[in-house]
Amino acid sequence: MKIISQNEIDRQYACMEKVRLLNGTGKRVLVRTFGCQQNEADSERLAGMAEAMGYVRADSPDDADLILVNTCAVREHAEQRALSITGQYKHLKEKNPNLIIGVCGCMVTQEHRLNTIKNSYPYVDFLIGTGMLYRFPEILLAHLENDKRLFFNDEVEGNIAEGLPVSRESKIKAWVSVMYGCNNFCTYCVVPYVRGRERSRQPDAILAEVKSLIADGVREITLLGQNVNSYGKDLDCGVDFADLVKEICSLDGDFILRFMTSHPKDANRKLIDTMAECGKCARQFHLPMQSGSGRVLTAMNRRYTPEGYLELIQYMRSRMPDIAISSDIIVGFPGETDAEFEETLEMLKKVQFDMTYSFIYSPRELTPAAKLDCQIPAEVKSARMERLLAVQNEISLAKNLAAVGTIQRVLIEGESKSSADMLTGRADSNKLVHIPRTPESEAKLGSFANIRITRAETFALFGELAD
Ligand code: 5AD
Ligand code: SF4
Repeated sequence: MKIISQNEIDRQYACMEKVRLLNGTGKRVLVRTFGCQQNEADSERLAGMAEAMGYVRADSPDDADLILVNTCAVREHAEQRALSITGQYKHLKEKNPNLIIGVCGCMVTQEHRLNTIKNSYPYVDFLIGTGMLYRFPEILLAHLENDKRLFFNDEVEGNIAEGLPVSRESKIKAWVSVMYGCNNFCTYCVVPYVRGRERSRQPDAILAEVKSLIADGVREITLLGQNVNSYGKDLDCGVDFADLVKEICSLDGDFILRFMTSHPKDANRKLIDTMAECGKCARQFHLPMQSGSGRVLTAMNRRYTPEGYLELIQYMRSRMPDIAISSDIIVGFPGETDAEFEETLEMLKKVQFDMTYSFIYSPRELTPAAKLDCQIPAEVKSARMERLLAVQNEISLAKNLAAVGTIQRVLIEGESKSSADMLTGRADSNKLVHIPRTPESEAKLGSFANIRITRAETFALFGELAD
């Protein structure tokens, strides 16, 4: 792991200034993001650097001078979508040869994908792996000066670069990365190969960022890390994740704190107790279970048992009875039998998650599970997925119906995606809440409001202002 020196950061700022002078005004950038919240946070940094280089945001690919595709590698589907979008930009380049196209992030950090783009997408101007995103200004400048294609995907082990500009998508909500990378090597997962080893930011740097967000009026802060419960293990300063959460919650200001993702092997009672004692912590916990079968969990290298997982859930509910719990589930891991899949369904019924994100197992090059010869046929995986969704949707709906009649604090964020007559926000439980758009509800945009829940669906609650 490498902390990027102030000299190096200054060098990137000098490159930003040179690009700004070269480009003049009026150039437009479009950042297209695939994948997880960490990628969204990375894209906000890329956009921040682009804005410091004089670019303004483009509304569509057609009016962009620079397009960055920030890719995900976690499943085949995400890679195919990024490749297909990149493919669609070919005709834009034909119309406008000055258009610059860069592809970056997890997908191109893999050697074989880097080579695919290098060889089959000749109109892509540069590729940047996750470990080198901080060098985007230098890479763009080199391309502008020499008109050469550039491929940067080493430094995979990872680094920490502080002090680069950020252009946030929302004025109300913000991501704050507390650590990067992953050491867990779950056997299905490509993340440790493309995001390097675990490394924590210094608590002071995180606190300074959070303080400035609060001062700017941000109401929801989500701490990000592939495995936030490992926070601080590499720092030797005696601060663990629970300490960090406590410290942030002690800051003045009207905000709510969320975090993700927790690994069940590391999520501990200290963290749960801290959440229970801190009023600013959301009553929400995302705890990926992946499978309800002990054998499959071992084959996944998850290092916990279904019993241990249940114990953690029970302790969480004993400390915070109103907590909403969500999870990630993989169906069709190599060798998963019908009986083992049934164990997952049984666990869903036992735990009663508020919601789950479920995924069909997707073999990833480099990972041990992809090499197993007991891969599950696609139709079996799909059939299992359908059954899982049926079980979980019924649970999610029942949980949401139980909220009808309650009053929930909701951060009102903006217009609903489905109707201009509705506003949308998130309850403390992170559930989506829709309310009618009225002058009174509009006045609450960007702040917390008490909402009486009047109706529930599987994926959303509906309500009205309670005061
Ligand atoms: N196939 C399917 N799902 C996967 N995930 C990670 N790797 C794979 C894979 N190869 C899921 C896990 C993880 C979530 C972010 O993505 O459930 O928690
Ligand atoms: Fe992937 Fe497991 Fe690390 Fe999560 S903890 S990023 S699933 S290897």
